[in-house]
Amino acid sequence: MPTTKFTTPEKYTYLTGFGGYHESEALPGTLPEAQSTPQKPSYGLYTERISGSSFVAARSENRHTWLYRIVPSAAHAPFECEPNSLQLPDEKLLFTPTQMRWDPFDVNEKADWVHSMQLIAGAGEPSTRSGVAYHIFSAGQSMEPRSVYYSADGDLLVILQQGVLDIRTELGYLLVRPNEICVIPRGIRYNVALPEGPVRGYSVELHQGSFTLPELGPIGSNGLANARDFQIPKSSFDEDTDNEYQIYVKFNGQLFKALQDHSPFDIVGWHGAYYPYKYDLGRFLTFGSVSYDHPDPSIFTVLSSSEKIVELAAFTPRWLTMEDTFRPPYYHRNTMSEYMGLITGGYDARTKGFLPGGATLHNVMSAHDPDSESHHAATHAELTPQKVGEGSMAFILESPLILGLSQWALETSGKRQLHYNASTWLPLKPRFSSKGAGEMNGHPIEK
Ligand SMILES: [Fe+2]
Repeated sequence: MPTTKFTTPEKYTYLTGFGGYHESEALPGTLPEAQSTPQKPSYGLYTERISGSSFVAARSENRHTWLYRIVPSAAHAPFECEPNSLQLPDEKLLFTPTQMRWDPFDVNEKADWVHSMQLIAGAGEPSTRSGVAYHIFSAGQSMEPRSVYYSADGDLLVILQQGVLDIRTELGYLLVRPNEICVIPRGIRYNVALPEGPVRGYSVELHQGSFTLPELGPIGSNGLANARDFQIPKSSFDEDTDNEYQIYVKFNGQLFKALQDHSPFDIVGWHGAYYPYKYDLGRFLTFGSVSYDHPDPSIFTVLSSSEKIVELAAFTPRWLTMEDTFRPPYYHRNTMSEYMGLITGGYDARTKGFLPGGATLHNVMSAHDPDSESHHAATHAELTPQKVGEGSMAFILESPLILGLSQWALETSGKRQLHYNASTWLPLKPRFSSKGAGEMNGHPIEK
């Protein structure tokens, strides 16, 4: 089966289908028939709506969900700024064209999900809904069970690299294991438990627009990430109005907290098109050349975004059969910034130095790709059909934005490889010889 062989078995059931209008109720008869705001909702519930797009957004981009809950989410004490916040909203980012690579980031054993997020690179800002922020998370602690977190700053794409995330969202549960990605839309509240200990991974906070599936063009109606394979939580609720709960929010880069005396997991039913979801990268239907040369790497796109701010592509295990072709990525410069991470295994353009839990950034128009050893090996390889990426999963985030780096990425983490550029590409020496060419553009070549 084209699915990942997870060591942790699934424990929840899901709705399926990317972008569709779904409904789920934990108690029969919760959802009103044909309407959304009846005068008296079932079971004495309150009706609440969460809107993830403007009311007048195009139908294909219009996202909202109706919630039927025990107490409205507005019933909480005022928010207060968290003094120990690790977020750095006013930090000045450093913009550099130098190619960057990082060793695997350390796990912060003492931190929970909320406090483990470290900004690595970004552009734009949440307050004007511009740009994107890339973070590394590396938590060793489950969140307090009576606490939730949400981001007002953007939709969060989570690319888990190590450990397991048991995510309880307002709309239901998601179990996320390495090789699975998930998206938690802006504003959706959730708690993250770590049933198998420390976790590490990459996240993308999309300040503008939302994540979408790429258009398929001549590919047709099947392939890449199929809509059917996206999994959405089913409604599940707590009836707890006796205990205190903490509501954390990342709001314009700053962490705030409020208290309330009722469970935020009190949604008994919901219907709409604004919800979290997960996807197993092992299900990706990969395309490639079966004659010669490479298609553009956009052929690996898993998720795009509605305003083309960032795209996620995954280098899944695949056969290479191209004849008379340099099979690893060719040398290139790109109008897009390229941020790469490795979930497991290796990557075929690097012989060493790029490890699971580490990362690279090749910013806009910064030249890169194969290191000298990979280049030598590929130019001397016998071109038989070859399976690459077996047991590995690398990904790339492409963005048209020039990305600035945080102090944590540059120094505090202590993981930046200071000699990445020199060790990777300076060993490349000229191979050129004009011997035997005779002339150039009709003129004899002077020796
Ligand atoms: Fe590249």
